[in-house]
Amino acid sequence: MDVSEEPINIEFIREASEILKKGGLVAFPTETVYGLGGDATDKEASKKIYQAKGRPSDNPLIVHIAKFEQLEQITKDLPETAKKLADAFWPGPLTMVCNKNEVIPYETTGGLDTVAVRMPNNPVALALIEESGCMIAAPSANTSGRPSPTKASHVYEDLSGKIEAILDGGTVDIGLESTIVDLTEDVVTILRPGYINMDMLREVVGEVRMDPGIVYNDKGTTGGAKPKAPGMRYKHYAPKGDLTIVSGEEDRVISTINELTAQAEKDGKKVGIIATSATAGRYGRGQILIIGDREEEQSIAHNLYDILRQFDELDVDIIYSESFATPKMGQAIMNRLLKAAGQKTIEV
Ligand code: TXA
Ligand code: MG
Repeated sequence: MDVSEEPINIEFIREASEILKKGGLVAFPTETVYGLGGDATDKEASKKIYQAKGRPSDNPLIVHIAKFEQLEQITKDLPETAKKLADAFWPGPLTMVCNKNEVIPYETTGGLDTVAVRMPNNPVALALIEESGCMIAAPSANTSGRPSPTKASHVYEDLSGKIEAILDGGTVDIGLESTIVDLTEDVVTILRPGYINMDMLREVVGEVRMDPGIVYNDKGTTGGAKPKAPGMRYKHYAPKGDLTIVSGEEDRVISTINELTAQAEKDGKKVGIIATSATAGRYGRGQILIIGDREEEQSIAHNLYDILRQFDELDVDIIYSESFATPKMGQAIMNRLLKAAGQKTIEV
């Protein structure tokens, strides 16, 4: 159902709302990535979500709301920081993990006593929550292990025939999943980096730390620390081609990728390269895809998942990527890219 034009076609929103109220599933756009929605208070709907995605049922879902009061309805011991963060960043790409009460069933929270909640900044998503009267449990609308969907066509590729409807709101804005913060401990802790970065959070709540389970050392390990967000423990976002990130000074990165590509092609492999608009012309071989422009770091976040899907379609055996540790979104971009690469990096 096409809801990409304003004013939004309210008939489609009503139809999708009816599906949700009856316990069915609807994929919908948010500003980060597409979500696969069901009524968050309905445990059968949550079970269907896990089934459609092929997702392990111990990996909890995010509950999407349209009013701050809904956060109060489903949580207990809500800290003051929740209100401060909501005032600063909601609606927007920030998810807060809080202690849950009995309103949200364990099927939605993967058995946890906490619940992850976010108010998305997308008119279709907000209209759907309001019209249905449901708080909507929604993971990213991809098959488990595939890149998150940033266009309705990605959702269609993964979930067609498995869900009742897709609301097509066009390409999303941000392209990476929301920042997740844990508010259940003394210090606000980032469980998943995203568009809302550490500096932005510190301005609002003071001390903020990174979950040690997602901080990798130069050996490519977390020194044994396990990520607190269950979803960050799984191998995720992995393209079919074997991805390696090459980082260092630009000229050396380019010459290294050119050498590695030539060698791999000699061995009969099909190679893909993730380049920027400034560097693409300097690669001589391989399937070169332009991710964006370093000066506009949002463009890189925006295109990353689409590029990974394109390489799957091109059936490349090997992918080499430049590194994108840009100032604001670099932490989020590199978190996803390193995961897709299984942490494989070459420093030059
Ligand atoms: O931007 C987003 O957050 C998108 C859109 C659709 O809102 N949603 C999304 O959902 O990325 P999903 O299911 O793909 O990722 C949710 C992450 C998982 O890593 C999950 O383990 C974590 O949130 N999570 C959910 N509830 C949690 C909880 N109570 N405690 C810790 N982590 C939690
Ligand atoms: Mg996901």
